[in-house]
Amino acid sequence: MAPSDPHSLSDPAQGTISHIKLRLEPDFARRLVRVQGEYTLDRPVRGSLFLDARDLDIAGIEAGGMAVRWSLDREDPLLGQRLHLSDLQDVRCFTIDLKTSPGAAALQWIGPEQTAGGKHPFLYSQCQACSARTLFPCQDTPGVRFTYEAELVAPAPLMTVMAAECVGQAPQGDHTTYRFRMPQPIPSYLFAFAVGNLTFQAVGPRTGIYAEPEIVHQAAWEFAENEDKLRAAEALFGPYLWDRYDLLIMPPAFPYGGMENPRLTFLNSVYVQGDRGATWLIAHELAHAWTGNLVTNATWEDFWLNEGPTTYAETRIIEAVEGVETAELEIAGRAQSLLREIKRLGPGSPMTCLKLSLAGKDPEESYSLVAYFKGMLFFRALEQAAGRARFDGFLHDYIAAFRFRSIDSEQFLGFLEERLPDAARVAGARRWIYEPGLPRGAADVASSLMDDVLSVSEEYRHGRLPSDDRVSGWTHMQQGIFLETLLPRIQVADCAYFEKLFRLQGTRNGGLFSTFCELAVRSGYREVLPAYEAFFASVGRYMFHEPVFRALSGEAWSRPLARPLFERWRHRHHAHTVGAIERILAQAGL
Ligand code: BES
Ligand code: ZN
Repeated sequence: MAPSDPHSLSDPAQGTISHIKLRLEPDFARRLVRVQGEYTLDRPVRGSLFLDARDLDIAGIEAGGMAVRWSLDREDPLLGQRLHLSDLQDVRCFTIDLKTSPGAAALQWIGPEQTAGGKHPFLYSQCQACSARTLFPCQDTPGVRFTYEAELVAPAPLMTVMAAECVGQAPQGDHTTYRFRMPQPIPSYLFAFAVGNLTFQAVGPRTGIYAEPEIVHQAAWEFAENEDKLRAAEALFGPYLWDRYDLLIMPPAFPYGGMENPRLTFLNSVYVQGDRGATWLIAHELAHAWTGNLVTNATWEDFWLNEGPTTYAETRIIEAVEGVETAELEIAGRAQSLLREIKRLGPGSPMTCLKLSLAGKDPEESYSLVAYFKGMLFFRALEQAAGRARFDGFLHDYIAAFRFRSIDSEQFLGFLEERLPDAARVAGARRWIYEPGLPRGAADVASSLMDDVLSVSEEYRHGRLPSDDRVSGWTHMQQGIFLETLLPRIQVADCAYFEKLFRLQGTRNGGLFSTFCELAVRSGYREVLPAYEAFFASVGRYMFHEPVFRALSGEAWSRPLARPLFERWRHRHHAHTVGAIERILAQAGL
């Protein structure tokens, strides 16, 4: 049985949901979804069943045609409400009728003006980490898995997609009902759907793109190599068990770069950037099909078990499809970002441990790059200690042993110490997991492409601006890492120089632009603000905006501008991005 989850009010020991049959009818005018759910439990339950719920308007619950007694009997500002089904008499199936609320955290209702086509609205769900409970009552913990089938109704001409297999569609008058099934058991945070003006284009036998017609061709070019990445990932981790790997191109307001919804990664359209430069992001979301979606973190305290191995796998996939030099540049760049992140959090901070202690805390507030990049370096240290061939064997066995299960750090460590006891000891596995900061030397990564970046950075520090020729062969990744080495600030006049050198005005590379904005704000380069505002008005990926808002609220010249800028566009952003920026502004006393 899964360990108890500080972010769920349910009690899986009472019995677990094994299957849900859902009907979902979005009402775009009222911004709510009508939901009917038929639940099946893994065993007959007598007495009470606790489920997570939040902001739900429940009309009724029935079992075998009889009303079930229920109440919302516990409320918690962090966790929502506990839905208590009581006096159950060996119940295995029950139905719930409800409406979601316009403020449901899992839903973002996007107006036509924020889409590529500009004519139709777009609706999608994002459940990670704890928002599935705002769609339907469930055991909203990654420790419980269920299969599902669903009917999703869309008004014409919109199309619906789910992170599931589409098994039919039936047009009826002014709407169409799409039917889906998800035969592989998933945790609630991987439940996902979207409704919009979408079309499909295949890029390979198991890979394709759902996107608005205005951008589907561009996206198909950008991600034409997804099938190769899928094959590289299978070589690393074993067979792909989710049948298809498609992308859904999201409006830019999506608060992440990507979200690993099974069979259908949700990918921010800002990464349709015209340079095929988002290989790492696809590699990342794809790798989650194994680390995260097959082997799942038991609770959000073990979040690193999702993100660390995934980030490691990302670098291995890049190595396979783009070569070892590109992979090592990425690793070196990330090690550099991690050092900055640890410095920001404080080297002794518990937030720099892989295993987190989150009771009473919102997991959103504890997210940092640590789970990703420290987790990646940990796996690299294990690979180095074990040797690549043995470590690859371990990875295969690890996935095979725990697939479709949720595990915590202790189970991981137990398996590691059993299979690779020497590597666990040499790498210092327990230290990596339970102690803050980084082992000495852990961030030293040899990379010739990085060395080139560092030498130009060093020359600049000695007063030499790089010539166009010197950096003309650089990739966007090198440019971005270079700009990071200049943080926190440079001479304001040099900002304009680098802006021209790397052609940052009007760049389609959001990651590069965000790093430049952080540097520019810190350096007092006010001219960057209009372009940043335009970027903030459309692009929602919160990781792009957090560093810039930290800079805006930290520098005297920009401090008074930070809150008004945010207020002008907050209505366009997802609750997650709004929350992240609110925290930064509040911390700065704004
Ligand atoms: N699963 C995460 C996104 C996420 C994390 C959603 C926490 C909700 C809560 C996804 O796989 C991810 O990590 N995305 C990052 C990728 C990057 C850091 C490699 C992103 O969106 O940019
Ligand atoms: Zn991830």
